[in-house]
Amino acid sequence: MVKNVQVLSEPLENRKGTLYFDGVSTVELAETYDTPLYVVSENRIRSNYQRLYSALAHNYEKVKVYYAAKANSNMSVLKILEKEGAGLDAVSPGEVFMALTTGFTPDRILFTGTSVRNDELKFLVDSKVTVNVDSLSQLDRLLKLTAPKILSVRVNPEIGAGHHDHCITAGKNTKFGLWEDDALKAYAAAKRAGVERFGIHMHVGSGILEVEPFLLALDKLLGTAEKVHDKLGINFEFVDMGGGLGVPYKPEEKPLDLTVFSEKVLSLFKSKVAEYGLGEPFFCVEPGRYLVSDACVLLTAVNTVKMTPYRKFVGVDAGFNTLVRPTMYGSYHHILAANRLNAKEQETYDVVGPICESGDALAKDRRLPKIEEGDLLAVLNAGAYGFAMSSQYNARPRAAEVLVRNGKCVLVREREQLDDLVAGQRMAE
Ligand code: LLP
Repeated sequence: MVKNVQVLSEPLENRKGTLYFDGVSTVELAETYDTPLYVVSENRIRSNYQRLYSALAHNYEKVKVYYAAKANSNMSVLKILEKEGAGLDAVSPGEVFMALTTGFTPDRILFTGTSVRNDELKFLVDSKVTVNVDSLSQLDRLLKLTAPKILSVRVNPEIGAGHHDHCITAGKNTKFGLWEDDALKAYAAAKRAGVERFGIHMHVGSGILEVEPFLLALDKLLGTAEKVHDKLGINFEFVDMGGGLGVPYKPEEKPLDLTVFSEKVLSLFKSKVAEYGLGEPFFCVEPGRYLVSDACVLLTAVNTVKMTPYRKFVGVDAGFNTLVRPTMYGSYHHILAANRLNAKEQETYDVVGPICESGDALAKDRRLPKIEEGDLLAVLNAGAYGFAMSSQYNARPRAAEVLVRNGKCVLVREREQLDDLVAGQRMAE
């Protein structure tokens, strides 16, 4: 019991051995909505947003938090953050469409795509969202369509970080952003074309629990901003530091200390902005994971317990079709036996899914209580890049999503049915 207690902080709760999530019994949720099931806490998303916003606003007046919709683009999640006052970071026309549909006005949407098509650029121009260009080629093609009112350039600050190689988005080996010389060319070309308002942007990577990489990269970004300002007389309306704020996945990991983060990042920001004479730009961040990760659990039922001479397997109904992070990045997600919270962790299992690949494991060598068929497992921190990266692989309909709003449950995405597997397909004659 002691082992489990350490990870049970809000919105998780142990009530007589049963896991409650934001005040609701996970066992009842599984009975009502079936599994696999993503359960999202509205209150937790709100408090994550408010905690981050106020930590930043404490040190600087002009702050904007853009939610990176790629982490979780359920419309109810978008709406919660829209109501909180967030902006939205979109990476595809689809995300722009979803944001507009949810009620974000175009001036609150920043598009940061890579390898963008011409028809997509046209859609962005027509939608009147701010475009953050990722290459000289993209800028060139954009300027052929229009000189936008406001434009931002994604700069590669040459310092990357992240929880996995796939998630490091700055530095030598990345496809993202413009190197400083090209960034200068981009601003010059945009100015020549008649653009008058500007922003500057970077994104270091994803899942960063230290402040240092942000500081090094922000220092470099502001240096680039100074050159642009000096050489081209350009002023910046905003400086966007990108997302990437990490969350603890393992019980022993410490959360990012937001007070320290805000203090260090914003004192660097303020001193450089003053030193370089950059005026008073907005300071923007665009977190995905930080806002939604711990606001969601994935509930999955145990189908099989299977012993071989070498391993003990718990077979559940969520595989990498439902949550791909463990398979794709080797990511750790803490797992609780939702109906046995008071039982001692006495076994070591691989928790595996129904997908026909050996890489289909949610956890390996995981200490858990003795598990039986019919038990319910809760996979924690499933709100970011969980449902968003799920698929129909092995012809498995995707999971349902439920939102807990002030103790009431709302089905916010229906479970897909077998018919959904053939939707849009045509049988060739
Ligand atoms: N801004 C930009 C330009 C980004 O590319 C990303 C994430 C974010 C913001 C938000 O990053 P966050 O705050 O969520 O770390 N599927 C991976 C994460 C990929 C993130 C890609 N870009 C995972 O499950 O860890």
